[in-house]
Amino acid sequence: MEDRARRRLLAVGPLLTGWYRRESRDLPWRKTKDPYRIWVSEVMLQQTRVETVVPYYERFLHRFPTVDRLAEAPEEEVLKYWEGLGYYSRAKNLHRGAQMVVERFGGEIPADPGKLRGIPGIGEYTAGAILSMAYDRDATAVDGNALRVFSRLFLIADPVDRPAGRKKVRDLVEAAIPPGEASVFNQAVMDLGARLCLPKGPKCEECPLRNHCAAAEEGVAEQYPVKTPKKRPVPVKMAAALVVENGRWLIRRRPEEGLLAGLWELPSAEKAEEETWEEAAARAVGASGLRVRVSKEVVRVEHIFSHRKWDLRIYRCTPVTGENAAGPFFPPGDGPDRWTWATPEECAAYPFPTAYRKVWPSLIREGV
Ligand code: ADE
Ligand code: SF4
Repeated sequence: MEDRARRRLLAVGPLLTGWYRRESRDLPWRKTKDPYRIWVSEVMLQQTRVETVVPYYERFLHRFPTVDRLAEAPEEEVLKYWEGLGYYSRAKNLHRGAQMVVERFGGEIPADPGKLRGIPGIGEYTAGAILSMAYDRDATAVDGNALRVFSRLFLIADPVDRPAGRKKVRDLVEAAIPPGEASVFNQAVMDLGARLCLPKGPKCEECPLRNHCAAAEEGVAEQYPVKTPKKRPVPVKMAAALVVENGRWLIRRRPEEGLLAGLWELPSAEKAEEETWEEAAARAVGASGLRVRVSKEVVRVEHIFSHRKWDLRIYRCTPVTGENAAGPFFPPGDGPDRWTWATPEECAAYPFPTAYRKVWPSLIREGV
């Protein structure tokens, strides 16, 4: 490593920890060393902004204050407390992870990187966050903020979403941690990335690292981190059915695998090329055994997931009298692919994807 880079590496640690001690944000998970609470906060923060997470964090820990209480809760209730945060596999992994901690480690979250990494949903980042923040180990926790800050400080030309670029950043972060201070250091990098070293319009004049930053010196901060070009989300045409009987709506639990696994929805089906929207909506209901006539479109909504963009259109449907003598067929049990009737008020107790919650008022207006 060249001399300047080595000096830079020595300088940034104390500057960051000093800045953090003066300026750190007062966040609820920073008032605790409880590894369970830190774990929950880190999982929530993985794809969600701090301001959004705070109220969810408080409600979640009020309901599930310990790893044992989380482990013994029904998955559907855990998902209900997660509703609106998105990326529901995070909640399912956290729940399964809590069960594993209880069964395998007697309810103690291990302070060992290998054991932590064996827990569902805990990868390199989350393990490092728990080890540093709860157990004061000198572990790295390289998130998007760290990738941005360090790729700018050291002008890393490799894409940071590839293993080679990530490793370069991780090695630099590791070398920059002042011994014994990883908790403060890691969170300082997160705060710097969230408040000053912004993806667009970084505030270099206010940054404690400005005299040591290669990107600021060359005026190229916004060109870092380098990333491989992203694929655009695939457009999907999704038809859904609002079937109303005696004030109740027909709802269905999504399969255990795949997008939005285990959440509830109005019956929906991806529109095939050769069918109409109305046909797709009727087909969605058909899987329950119920025959319907499609009357009209109620509402449409666009919703973007990481790899997909839904054009979701919801159709009001009426059961065809005379053809449903046997009633809808609902598979027995309480597993996935369950069907039921629920009033709009009762639906509030079921976890629904955000795409549906966005148009809930229109559905209530129409679905009476
Ligand atoms: N993002 C992820 N972890 C965080 C933390 N501990 N504080 C602030 N933002 C974060
Ligand atoms: Fe980021 Fe600018 Fe600070 Fe460099 S000087 S770390 S680019 S905010």
